Amino acid sequence: MTDGSEPESILLVDDDASFRGILAEVLSGHEYRVTASPDAYHALEVLQSEPVDLVVTDLDMPGLKGDALLAQIRSTFPEVPVIAITAFGSVESALELTRAGAADYLAKPFRVQPFLDAVRRVLDQTRSAREAARMRRRHGRHLEGIVAASGPMRRLFERVARVATSPAPVLITGETGTGKDLIARAVHHASGRGALVTVNSGAIPEHLMESELFGHVKGAFTGADHDRSGLFQAADGGTLFLDEIGELPLALQPKLLRAIETGEVRRVGGVASELLDVRIIAATHRELGRAVQEGTFREDLYWRINVLHLEVPPLRERPGDIPLLVDHVLSRARQRGALDVRVSAPALSALVKYSWPGNVRQLRGVLERASTFCEGAEVCVDDLPPELRRAGETVEHVRSAAERELTLAELEREYVLEVLRRTGGQKSRAADWLGIPRRTLYRRLEEYGKVPEV
Ligand SMILES: Nc1ncnc2c1ncn2[C@@H]1O[C@H](COP(=O)(O)OP(=O)(O)OP(=O)(O)O)[C@@H](O)[C@H]1O
Ligand SMILES: [Mg+2]
Repeated sequence: MTDGSEPESILLVDDDASFRGILAEVLSGHEYRVTASPDAYHALEVLQSEPVDLVVTDLDMPGLKGDALLAQIRSTFPEVPVIAITAFGSVESALELTRAGAADYLAKPFRVQPFLDAVRRVLDQTRSAREAARMRRRHGRHLEGIVAASGPMRRLFERVARVATSPAPVLITGETGTGKDLIARAVHHASGRGALVTVNSGAIPEHLMESELFGHVKGAFTGADHDRSGLFQAADGGTLFLDEIGELPLALQPKLLRAIETGEVRRVGGVASELLDVRIIAATHRELGRAVQEGTFREDLYWRINVLHLEVPPLRERPGDIPLLVDHVLSRARQRGALDVRVSAPALSALVKYSWPGNVRQLRGVLERASTFCEGAEVCVDDLPPELRRAGETVEHVRSAAERELTLAELEREYVLEVLRRTGGQKSRAADWLGIPRRTLYRRLEEYGKVPEV
């Protein structure tokens, strides 16, 4: 521990469990925080979600090899130093390893003390870069305007802080309305880079898109009466946010791939290329893996932009955020001059219970309408749209059942049957509402025996 607060964290990568265990013991015994990884893929996951100050990796592993991991860390997490461990008598020379970016290397078998010395030396050498990164993360101002307290969102914020300073592309996925735009902005702000330039890949007509992205030279096509630079050039030194990347026309995808891989772009009709420094953030609500299978998205581009992945969870998986979001939306409305409106307890239960297919955007819309049209200063269940009113009434119904002092099993039966009644007997909708698989619902209904008419 050198900065008096958190212990330094070391990620240990080795497929050999006993070797991994011994090194982890040794390091923990010297006040380091150790995370152990059995392979390189796991290690990359850890790097995206936890603070790592140093990686110690074996080079000889099945799957993604240690040298490929070393290269990946150098390009994706350049702040994180790597100590490589080679097998005795292996071909990798010290020169090759340092050229590949290893901060130090040790040949197996080695003694404990030289290993600990190497760890200490590398951590000391990289301390100032590490402290700067920690400071940036601690400030956390980049998350302004994003309201969330739930576990899934806290984990997402951790990842935002981790990936922000990497130069590698970030892919943000999640259902519509979950807040992908806000997360993209947060990554950009935390990166400390220059301008944020956003392009909606689906909104620009296909024939204009190439020139929009890369610019054009005079005379490149009818109407091109002077040279014009594109969004890539505008994002030089900053971030290019490719929103709705799933909608990017297939014909343009190889050109984008080349620009990302080489950092060079060529204007439409031009001959020379320009070397730019642009960080790519892409977002989509589509399943890109499926688009690749269907042939509407190129696999090579998919792998190129999917190095760092942030998944924004749907609202129904984090109902704990709903009361906070409600406060946030209503206070924003108040700032814009709306009346001081509250949400009644049953209405809030209805909001928390609902499945929100349109996520936070839908929640905002519902609240803004309900708070405008409600009578008095309180949004009641009756002010909510019908699909939400049903969720609220069900809660009320169950509450009154609870007052009748039913057992938990009876209560559950009441609840399930009530939901079934309110979905007009449609079992798949009821299962969806209850958040249980359809098979589970069928099994429950069988257990209840004779199901009353619904
Ligand atoms: N955690 C949050 N805190 C506050 N506001 C939020 C949060 N998440 C989303 N919002 C708001 O919800 C709306 C939708 O968010 P956003 O546009 O970022 O969604 P999206 O995931 O990009 O959706 P789409 O896939 O449709 O583009 C915006 O008005 C945004 O401000
Ligand atoms: Mg969006």
